[in-house]
Amino acid sequence: MTLVILSPCIDVKDGTCTEVCPVDCIYEGERMFYIHPTECIECSLCESICPVDAIRYDDEVSPADAQFLKLNGDPFRNAEGGLDQPGGWSRSDAPLKDPAAIRDFPAAGQVPPRASR
Ligand code: F3S
Repeated sequence: MTLVILSPCIDVKDGTCTEVCPVDCIYEGERMFYIHPTECIECSLCESICPVDAIRYDDEVSPADAQFLKLNGDPFRNAEGGLDQPGGWSRSDAPLKDPAAIRDFPAAGQVPPRASR
């Protein structure tokens, strides 16, 4: 089990989650942040603090948001299909390249409201 970041983070990137993460496993991308699937220790501090309620345990993700289970890992995927282990995000790091699905994700205001959990 791990935690994942969902679409409400896109173009918001509040960043408060990174301040409470004890292992720095939340990485900045161009349009959103991503939780590294294996560096996450599942403490859930990030879930409780995100102001736009963008974070869920993977087993709480609704079918409508299921693509984000893979998308959170995609920025770390290497040519062999495994996950690179960056070892912790730092504010000075350049943003990771967003997966195509996030680059093409409609801007806020063009997305229908999400169903509540
Ligand atoms: Fe995004 Fe919420 Fe973190 S908006 S950067 S998941 S605090």
